[in-house]
Amino acid sequence: MIINLTYYHVANDVPEIKPDIAVVIDVLRATTTISWALKNGADSIQVFADLDLLKKSAMNWDADKRIMIGERGGKKIEGFDLGNSPLSVTKETVFGKRLFMSTTNGTKSLKKVQNAKYLFAMGLTNRKAVAEKIISLNCDNILILGSGWEGSYSLEDSLAAGALASYLKANYNTEVNILNDELQASLALWYFWENDILKCLKTATHGKRLTSIGNYEDDFKCCSELDCLDIVPTQFERGVIRAS
Ligand code: MLT
Repeated sequence: MIINLTYYHVANDVPEIKPDIAVVIDVLRATTTISWALKNGADSIQVFADLDLLKKSAMNWDADKRIMIGERGGKKIEGFDLGNSPLSVTKETVFGKRLFMSTTNGTKSLKKVQNAKYLFAMGLTNRKAVAEKIISLNCDNILILGSGWEGSYSLEDSLAAGALASYLKANYNTEVNILNDELQASLALWYFWENDILKCLKTATHGKRLTSIGNYEDDFKCCSELDCLDIVPTQFERGVIRAS
C-alpha cells in the first residue's frame, strides 16, 4: 500500500475533491486553541465563517453551556466571551461547554474540507496524536490544509505540515508518497526549523502581526510546544468538532 499526502497553503487552493482524510492546520492560533479547549474538557467546538449565524446559533444554546470565541485581525470580536488565545480556554472557562468559534482564517479552512470522510484539526501541539490517528485509519489519500492569512501563504502552517509529513514518513509502516511541491517545500522547512520552532513562529508574518498588537509571548510558547497534547480534534457532524 502507498499513502498519498498533499498539502495546500490556503482554502482557495483546494480542488473540489473528497479526500479520505483532511487535516486542517492553523498553528497561530485556531487549531492550537481548539486542541487546548478539548484537552480542558470543552464538550465541542462549532465553527462558523459568518458571525451573524454564529450568534444566532449560540443564542439557541443553553446560556450556561455556551461560549462565543473568536478574533478578527488577531483581536477579540466585540461582544464575544474570548478571543483566540489557547491560554484563555482554561478548564474553569470551557469545561462541559460548546464553543461557538469564528476566526479570520482557520475556521474558513475547516469549512472548506468539511466533506472529507475524516476531518481533524492539528497544531504542532498535537502533531503526533493526529499522525498516530492517521496511521491507525490506513487510508490512501490525505489532504493537509493550512490556513494562511487572508488567502496567502503562512510559514507556521507549512512548518506544521512538514512536521506531520516527517512523522508519517518515519513511523508509517508503508510507503508515504509526497504528492506536491508545496509539501516537499514544507518538509524542507521543517528540517530547517525543527530545533527552533519558537523562532520560526516569531519570524512568520502572522507572528509579527501578533507582536505588533500586543504581548503574545506566552501564546507563541504554547503554540510551539511540539507533541504535548494527546487530543485529536475530529469533526463528528458538519462543522462540529469533538475530541477523539
Ligand atoms: C486565524 O484564524 O487566522 C488565526 O487563528 C488568527 C489568530 O491568531 O487569532
